[in-house]
Amino acid sequence: MGFLEEIDKRRTFGIVSHPDAGKTTLTEKLLLFGGAIQVAGAVKSNKIKKSATSDFMDIERQRGISVATSVMGFLYKGKQINILDTPGHKDFQEDTYRTLTAVDSAIVVIDVAKGVEPQTEKLVEVCRMRKTPMIVFINKLDREGKDAFDLLDEVEQKINLTACPLSWPIGMGQRFKGVYNIYEKKLVLFNPHGKQEDTIEFNDLDDPGLENHIGESAAAELREEVNMVNEVYPPFDKEAYLNGELNPVFFGSAINNFGVKELLDCFVEIAPQPLARETEERIVKPDEKKFSGFVFKIHANMDPKHRDRIAFLRICSGEFRRNTNYIHVRNAKKMKFSNPTTFMASKKEIIESAFPGDIVGLYDSGNFKIGDALTEGEKLTFKGIPSFSPEMFRIVHNADPMKSKQLAKGLSQLMDEGVAQMFVKEFGGTKIIGTVGALQFDVIQYRLEHEYGAKCEYESLHLHKACWLTHNDGNQFKEFLQRRKRDIAKDKAGNDVFMAESAWQLKTMQETYPNITFHFTSDF
Ligand code: G4P
Repeated sequence: MGFLEEIDKRRTFGIVSHPDAGKTTLTEKLLLFGGAIQVAGAVKSNKIKKSATSDFMDIERQRGISVATSVMGFLYKGKQINILDTPGHKDFQEDTYRTLTAVDSAIVVIDVAKGVEPQTEKLVEVCRMRKTPMIVFINKLDREGKDAFDLLDEVEQKINLTACPLSWPIGMGQRFKGVYNIYEKKLVLFNPHGKQEDTIEFNDLDDPGLENHIGESAAAELREEVNMVNEVYPPFDKEAYLNGELNPVFFGSAINNFGVKELLDCFVEIAPQPLARETEERIVKPDEKKFSGFVFKIHANMDPKHRDRIAFLRICSGEFRRNTNYIHVRNAKKMKFSNPTTFMASKKEIIESAFPGDIVGLYDSGNFKIGDALTEGEKLTFKGIPSFSPEMFRIVHNADPMKSKQLAKGLSQLMDEGVAQMFVKEFGGTKIIGTVGALQFDVIQYRLEHEYGAKCEYESLHLHKACWLTHNDGNQFKEFLQRRKRDIAKDKAGNDVFMAESAWQLKTMQETYPNITFHFTSDF
């Protein structure tokens, strides 16, 4: 197969949801369709369990297992589907944000009963920042839930998506009869006993035959609702979807494998192939001959017997080859990889080559940082791999003065891996660690001790947000930096960051310094 055909057939995406909406179940059903797994439960067993929140070692062990499902690939209708696993666990949200920088599109799963939940809001926000095309799957229609129109209102108002229903539910819960596939004009009937679903071509809902399939009242209701859908929502437009301006919506029940095939069939037809990526220097197109890629995730093995790290590389252009010299751009260092690996749901394989849209795992002894680029020599800095403002902060102290070098090295490497972010106060050099989840503090303490022989202690610190700054008034900015000296810290790249104590303080600053913009991510 030629290079261009290889690119053309790849579809790399992530599934995002609030925990428990059904992401793992949907992933499994997709893999079953693609023949990548044979039995349900294969992915589920790798899911990080909610109950383990108190014991981070247990979670780390589970994460070690779940690295096997970092990328799940299969062939479907001639397309190479790559699903990137996004940890649902709240404390690993930062991992999920970064993984979303490596996808070309996303599927958002929403629980019909719960509607749009807080984590969905955040993840969709991250996708929107990059204009990632998103399809919405409303799950658990076999249960009683919210009215479909109310849900779509929520989708539009809470997460600002432009809903375009491509399927429509016929009842729900006990009365759930199936969906009408608006996209393909087919009636898909639900069989609660898990047998093959019945699909009936149905081009004209006014056909009196509809009553025979779903009964009189459901037929009347469906006709009325689909008419309303046609009036209220915009018609499907592939360009608008690809530009991130329109969001197809499907309804179904993942656990019953219902509505999943419709979703997948539409997905392979409309979802984007590997997209061009922005770098500081220029736009990199996938069909360029020369190889380039960036690291979006680093997984460290906490087992002391296997102290290796795996850097996950998204291929952006050209063909990546095993045992070939590439340039690590930040270090200007030559590197070659003898055992680049794919992490598929069921198997781990050394690969000879990979193409744009693919993810390759590279064994690493500490060379990589999140965001690092590999190329054939060109100096490229990939954009869109932001740091997000942490939600929890603590001051870190050295608990063993004899080991300050080890502590500095350990902290620096852990920050490179993206375990947490460190901010160093200009005033007094206080080191502040910021994380998304409380678990990371334990992980850092444990790893510093076991991997670097250093000890740290934390001092609690109440902060509202870390804000990155831009301005259009040099004098005002200078005055702000001078006056708020005690609240300014540097991030890992040396940028000035305002450590806001409270929402109120932040608001006051925004009002006092209108020519300074306070950002909650480092990417602007
Ligand atoms: P997540 O990855 O988004 O966190 O969700 P996951 O797939 O683990 O699903 C969360 C729960 O919702 C699971 O139940 C799962 O079986 C259930 N579920 C998923 N899809 C559907 C659906 O279409 N209908 C209904 N009724 N339930 C669904 P659990 O009790 O937490 O786990 P388990 O004991 O079933 O494994």
